[in-house]
Amino acid sequence: SAEELDSPETAEKLEEIKTALAYGEIIGLPTETVYGLAGDARNPEAIQKIFQAKGRPQDNPLIVHIHSIDQLEEFAEIPDERVLKLMRTFWPGPISFILPLKGDHIAAKTVADLRSVAVRMPSHPVGLKILEYTGIPLAAPSANISGKPSPTDYRHVVDDLKGKMYGVVNSTPADYGIESTVLDCTTFPYQIARPGEIKKSDLERVLDSEIKVHEGDASQPISPGMKYKHYAPKQPLVLIEGIVMAQTLAAEKEGRKIGVIAPESFREVVPEEVEFISLCQKEDDYREAAKNLYGALRKMDKSDVDMIYIYRFRETPFSAALLNRIYKATGDVMIKGDKAN
Ligand code: TXA
Ligand code: MG
Repeated sequence: SAEELDSPETAEKLEEIKTALAYGEIIGLPTETVYGLAGDARNPEAIQKIFQAKGRPQDNPLIVHIHSIDQLEEFAEIPDERVLKLMRTFWPGPISFILPLKGDHIAAKTVADLRSVAVRMPSHPVGLKILEYTGIPLAAPSANISGKPSPTDYRHVVDDLKGKMYGVVNSTPADYGIESTVLDCTTFPYQIARPGEIKKSDLERVLDSEIKVHEGDASQPISPGMKYKHYAPKQPLVLIEGIVMAQTLAAEKEGRKIGVIAPESFREVVPEEVEFISLCQKEDDYREAAKNLYGALRKMDKSDVDMIYIYRFRETPFSAALLNRIYKATGDVMIKGDKAN
């Protein structure tokens, strides 16, 4: 039965978590991106529990979380000094590196039988403290049921996984709200497999060389998880241009109950009977929008609206990660000005 674990301020609570993990239990772990569902990456039984609890396809590998670069010695190759430089610059923080796997320390299930492994050192003080105290490399995918939005609040973890884990650490809401950047370092130039808070330009500034962004078709993902539908609420979710918001919603009046997820400034153009959730105060505050996105999708999912419109943010390097998640959630269904009526 799932319990909420108080955020471990004391050695006693840390000891309880350590014991649970050592016995192959899985726990909800706070990180600065989203909550993870963590288990010992070396223990196939713990890993099996993670896949089962999430309903995750077995061919989708997990990210292994660490507290020190030295831990990599046991299970991954650092291909060259440049990768080390990136780790030293951005860790602890919201970026994962895919590295060549070494030895058999990590369970084959953790990496879905690949010969590479994704690793991350999170900056969330509680998550990091648990990694330090236990010393266990923790495999942790996002702590949601597969296909649902990732959890940004410990209550989301309870909603999805109650009864399927030892417990969730009830800490603060996630700072960033979308998952880490995933950088594939098994080939050169390194390639962004999943966009996140750490952007191409941030990486290029440190390396002084080119970083590629993977934009292949969905059938050839370098990050296996990217091929699955993600982050979607139960209702149809449609992108909408701000400019046609008012007229589209006016035309929708009859019959269906509509939800709108958009920046605060749209509240006033939305009819009163529409369920409105604000993502951010300013239209270009992509960070605030990212932080609130999954919570908004979850709230709509629980509500009685029949369909949801979500505001189409402008495309800039700063909105890339946010738009990536929104496009995946909508499946690119979109209303443009000319199709509004
Ligand atoms: O921010 C995050 O990364 C969160 C927190 C909990 O750390 N974790 C997370 O894990 O988002 P998950 O499992 O939901 O997403 C991991 C992504 C998937 O798209 C997976 O396919 C990819 O990373 N991945 C993991 N290992 C890989 C590998 N060896 N090769 C290619 N892709 C890999
Ligand atoms: Mg996930």
